[in-house]
Amino acid sequence: SPSDPDLVERARAAKAKLGDRVFVLGHHYQRDEVIQFADVTGDSFKLARDAAARPEAEYIVFCGVHFMAESADILTSEDQKVVLPDLAAGCSMADMATAEQVAECWDVLTEAGIAEQVVPVSYMNSSADIKAFTGRHSGTICTSSNAQRALEWAFEQGEKVLFLPDQHLGRNTAVRDMGMSLDDCVVYNPHKPNGGLTAEQLRAAKMILWRGHCSVHGRFSLESVEDVRNRIPGVNVLVHPECKHEVVAAADYVGSTEYIIKTLDAAPAGSKWAIGTELNLVRRVANAHPDKEVVFLDRTVCFCSTMNRIDLPHLVWTLESLAEGTLVNRIRVDEETEHYAKLALERMLALP
Ligand code: 13P
Ligand code: SF4
Repeated sequence: SPSDPDLVERARAAKAKLGDRVFVLGHHYQRDEVIQFADVTGDSFKLARDAAARPEAEYIVFCGVHFMAESADILTSEDQKVVLPDLAAGCSMADMATAEQVAECWDVLTEAGIAEQVVPVSYMNSSADIKAFTGRHSGTICTSSNAQRALEWAFEQGEKVLFLPDQHLGRNTAVRDMGMSLDDCVVYNPHKPNGGLTAEQLRAAKMILWRGHCSVHGRFSLESVEDVRNRIPGVNVLVHPECKHEVVAAADYVGSTEYIIKTLDAAPAGSKWAIGTELNLVRRVANAHPDKEVVFLDRTVCFCSTMNRIDLPHLVWTLESLAEGTLVNRIRVDEETEHYAKLALERMLALP
């Protein structure tokens, strides 16, 4: 739906008043009404780098979810303030790994006598606490656009990887991109004693996958892929690596949100695409390419509800508050957590 013209005008005026003091970042899953005010758009990796590259901006307004704003706070300087327009914009996947659960897991690995061989690799979609755990144990962060490089790096440091919290990204990267077998992977369930695994299983595994997932991408099934191939002959199936392994295995192309956009930009006129990721992005891509047929991979509509919490009214309130000198919704990571989380994030930024 078109944005309310009054709110558009207010956002424009507040942003103009702030000038270079504010920098607005927009993740690709944000609504059109929000994306129109982003100074830069990107996937998680690009936005983390772009936040760090704006030392002159006093305010970084992050239109995305909580873990992205935390990462921006970690990577920006002390006097820069990172603001999340709605504090309820979390990520259910990031919530699936708590600091206590991960500490307990490390005890289990220690008990099994393998902790010294394990390198943690944590997906960007995790809390600052989990990133700090990763930094403390000499691991790295990864995003969906560099997971393979992160795993290659990790296997140069140790024999095993503990991959948190998205089991699908971990499994898909290991099996699809790096030639490991499904048997090299085990799933650690934080709700079961010892993760539901025996010490023998842990010792035999190369990839220890945390039992987390994204509920948005979890909706795509092998049936969705087969169904769209029947409906649209010649269709290219393009999915995000947070989808289940069988979906990724049946797809033609797999990659991050930025990759999805670039792939469509490069696609020839007349080509047909079914995209398995969040709906705001799929719609925007479809609108940008009227010469191509672009459909959502599933027949049922699916937004990321927490990404969608950032809407134009919240953005207007945020920008107007900042323009009036009131700092709202600041996201701040404490000093010690920041120190270790930054080690892990910087290791990611330094990956070849
Ligand atoms: P990207 O890094 O591909 O932007 O993914 C972020 C995300 O939250 C996907 O669900
Ligand atoms: Fe989290 Fe999934 Fe939403 Fe991405 S799409 S922010 S992983 S819930």
